[in-house]
Amino acid sequence: MDRSLSLITPTGRLTLGNHLGALRRFVAAADAASSPDDCFFGLSDLHALTTPQDLAVLRATVTETATLFLAAGLDPARATLFRQSRVPAHRELAYLLECTAYTGELNRMIQFKEKGRGVPSTRVSLYTYPALMAADILLYRPSVVPVGDDQRQHVEITRDLAIRFNHAYAPVFTVPEVVTPRAGARVMDLQTPTAKMSKSAATDAGVIRLLDPPDVVRRKVARAVTDSDVGPDAVHSSSEKPGVTNLLDILAACGGSADGITTYGALKSAVTEAVVTVLEPLQKSYAQLAADPAYVDSVFADGSARAREVTASVLADATAAMGL
Ligand code: TYM
Repeated sequence: MDRSLSLITPTGRLTLGNHLGALRRFVAAADAASSPDDCFFGLSDLHALTTPQDLAVLRATVTETATLFLAAGLDPARATLFRQSRVPAHRELAYLLECTAYTGELNRMIQFKEKGRGVPSTRVSLYTYPALMAADILLYRPSVVPVGDDQRQHVEITRDLAIRFNHAYAPVFTVPEVVTPRAGARVMDLQTPTAKMSKSAATDAGVIRLLDPPDVVRRKVARAVTDSDVGPDAVHSSSEKPGVTNLLDILAACGGSADGITTYGALKSAVTEAVVTVLEPLQKSYAQLAADPAYVDSVFADGSARAREVTASVLADATAAMGL
């Protein structure tokens, strides 16, 4: 099977976007796997340090995110689950890749442009983020990297760095494919449907969290910004309506159908029902797993140990190829 690899950064409580764009696709890949070496899924806790964090909140978020990986249905017999900070090769290869990346290409990264460029207190690590993310990927020689749409540019620079390294030094890395889903690749904020739904959003009203109870989901969806169109088929009458387009995308990604729906009210009810149906089993499983944090820790400790084994030879090859 083609090896899959992807990570999620514990900088906030996971959202429906994280699930539809990434986590549930990790589960699908793992379900098709025959060995835990087919799938490597991690918590990118080093990436969390690119912006200031409250340390107690960071620790709690790491635990919650790790638990959600398992609650979503990831089976440790079919996927290796690890913490980036527990696999030192990530930091080491990141430096070697910084020595192959150009400032011109890092300056073009959307995340840096939006979150930090021109601000004197921006951490250097936010600028060099793509080199660490490339290391995360290339260390495992995956063939596919399942992500949401917003990570596409980061996987593309990873491909560029791999190709450049292989030409300049030796063919150490495989060049991975980025794969995004048909529906749910870019779930938008319910209040600001021109911005992606983000776990670190300043306000919570437009963000559905994976652990939001059904009544909270209902309230957030009911208050979702739609558009001012009225008329017999307001829902389908224009494709230029970000709020409605987003709800239709969420509905499709959650297995619902918009057939026969014409009003915003009916659309919102259908979306609520579809989202709650997706979240309910995950939340049940979360409640059980959260009662056994030692089990969750042991899964990630074992996975991190396996990740250290798998990455050691790739790091050694890259180091030697660069003449060190
Ligand atoms: P992060 O933590 O921001 O997001 C984790 C995953 O969720 C996807 N995602 C979304 N998909 C659809 N709609 C949304 N609104 C939405 N928001 C987030 C993201 O695309 C991502 O797949 N830098 C990465 C983590 C990372 C990584 C890696 C990913 C570190 N190293 C190596 C892949 C390979 C990040 O911060 O994603």
